[in-house]
Amino acid sequence: MSTTFWVNGERQTVDVDPAKPLLWVLREQLALTGTKFGCGIAQCGACTVHIDGVAMRSCVTPVSDVDGRQVTTIEGLGSESGELHPLQQAWIDHQVPQCGYCQSGQLMSATALLADNPNPSDADIDAAMSGNICRCGMYGRIRQAIKATSVASASDEPLFYSVAGVDHV
Ligand code: FES
Ligand code: FES
Repeated sequence: MSTTFWVNGERQTVDVDPAKPLLWVLREQLALTGTKFGCGIAQCGACTVHIDGVAMRSCVTPVSDVDGRQVTTIEGLGSESGELHPLQQAWIDHQVPQCGYCQSGQLMSATALLADNPNPSDADIDAAMSGNICRCGMYGRIRQAIKATSVASASDEPLFYSVAGVDHV
């Protein structure tokens, strides 16, 4: 059975078991390996992507659930001209990644948070990020980077995604 959906603005049709998790379709059928497998049971956040702009765990999302929908992965987070998303730059500035394994999931959750709430409190950040586990313990730097981006975006820097038909600002 085929499923058609949009990934980072490109229309994709895959012919796979409709119960196959979106994570493995992204990695195996579409060669988008930035989205990581950690636990497979929605407990670590490593596999987080956006589905219609909402952060979701792709390891427990059957591909049939995204039929006709917009999926954004870490590969689609920057602008179409190749600029980093402001949060990606903040991640670099604050030296957030250590081993890096959790980081695409962290960024997908953080960008979804700022799209909904451009100036989150520490409590808002903790609530939104609580499902993303970092074995390197970079939680303090993650919070700093989100706060720095929220301040920057409040002044002059828009937050953008390169998702066709979805214009998060
Ligand atoms: S791999 Fe999906 S939440 Fe851990
Ligand atoms: S940077 Fe290593 S698990 Fe998060």
